[in-house]
Amino acid sequence: MSLRNDFLWGASTSAYQVEGASAEDGKGPSVQDVKTLVQGTADFTVSSDHYHRFDEDIALMAKMGLKAYRFSIAWTRIYPKGDGPVNEKGLRHYSQVIDTCLLHGITPIVTIYHFDLPAALLDAGGWKNRATADAYVRYAQTLFQRFGDRVKYWLTINEQNMMTLCGNAVGTLEEGEDACRTLYQQNHHMFLAQARAMSLCHAMVQDAHIGPAPNICSIYPRTCAPEDILAAQDFEALRNWLYLDMTVHGEYNPIAWNILRKKGIEPVILPEDREVLKAAKPDFIALNYYNTITVQAPGSNAKQENAADQQTGTTETGFYEGIRNPYLGRTRFGWEIDPVGFRTTLREVYERYRLPLLITENGLGDEDAVDENGEIDDENRIAYLSDHIVQMQRAVEDGVDVLGYCPWSALDLVSTHEGIRKRYGFIYVNRTDEEVLDLRRIPKKSFYWYRDVIRSGGIRK
Ligand code: BG6
Repeated sequence: MSLRNDFLWGASTSAYQVEGASAEDGKGPSVQDVKTLVQGTADFTVSSDHYHRFDEDIALMAKMGLKAYRFSIAWTRIYPKGDGPVNEKGLRHYSQVIDTCLLHGITPIVTIYHFDLPAALLDAGGWKNRATADAYVRYAQTLFQRFGDRVKYWLTINEQNMMTLCGNAVGTLEEGEDACRTLYQQNHHMFLAQARAMSLCHAMVQDAHIGPAPNICSIYPRTCAPEDILAAQDFEALRNWLYLDMTVHGEYNPIAWNILRKKGIEPVILPEDREVLKAAKPDFIALNYYNTITVQAPGSNAKQENAADQQTGTTETGFYEGIRNPYLGRTRFGWEIDPVGFRTTLREVYERYRLPLLITENGLGDEDAVDENGEIDDENRIAYLSDHIVQMQRAVEDGVDVLGYCPWSALDLVSTHEGIRKRYGFIYVNRTDEEVLDLRRIPKKSFYWYRDVIRSGGIRK
């Protein structure tokens, strides 16, 4: 094993999924607060109450031995309407969160925007409106100004590719005939927002490290038939390289662009955009990894299976069709499990861009239960994480430069659309989708297991 000495063993959360206090201390509503919830799932008014309990939670993270905590800032706590007057109470809150991390020797890794666009900006057109990119840049500038002295790791946008490919799952899809074209126009404006924020961060923050945080994975062809290989290449261009080519090189990936062009959904690019996109340079690539995806050539007969979540968007008529991989097991919630695919993903991304990689999400959503001794025996999670850590270490041995590993999630939180029934945390939060209960924190078995992994600097296998 040759992980860096300063390897960032961490864990992640996002604001709306964990904080609660959704209308407190001047916070404005985000799209998450106003969206139609999937029936039977908790809303985000309380979530895991991290807003009020961050002190206790970060102390527990320190007990687990975390070297880093990746969390997001709620845009609507800083700018309740997305733009306009700043909310000092929101800034004070995150300043305390950052100081608490530092007090415990935990490096804060801050996501600027994680699925929670201010509702007021959505009303004004959302990302389809260029002005949203201006508002994002002003918001990012405020964060760099106020926190840049203490925060050195920044993530621009969480899973921009999922917001575009699975707009229906994460609330960015607009109804209407032009829905797909709109998504790619929104996407273009997010590219501009990201590029400007990266350049600004380098100008404003000393020793800054900033990068994107897409969801990236290897795409497998169903067979070695050349048509299946082409289908896999098309999908990886549209799902992975479109995002990373733009972030790293400031250019649209040609294969992905051609697919957009053929479908007549390519975005409008203004002449001045090119310079902005070219000027920005990331310091690392952060990526979320849960599973690989397998596709086949269009028009084949095999049955397609798609869930209504981030696993959607795997079929594009005329280009590729997502299918189930018969070699892989699945989680209780139907997500494929592929630790070796983690290694292949890391190798592919590093070979292609030669920038250090930071894993900002990886984890198992499961239905954990408290047993009669008051303990949570989450063996499945330990097995999942252990297998993925081993493959990450193998990727490092292969020559990939990995900065850190921050699995999802530090503590239980409300999933994007499957409620708190689908738990990811090392720390159990005592609530259900129906009842808030006492929100007591209980370290799970995986908490102690991860502490030992961190202490020994990895897993020897
Ligand atoms: C990622 C998101 O897509 O996957 C997280 O960045 C999300 O916000 C995580 O919670 C797991 O997905 P889900 O749908 O199970 O919550």
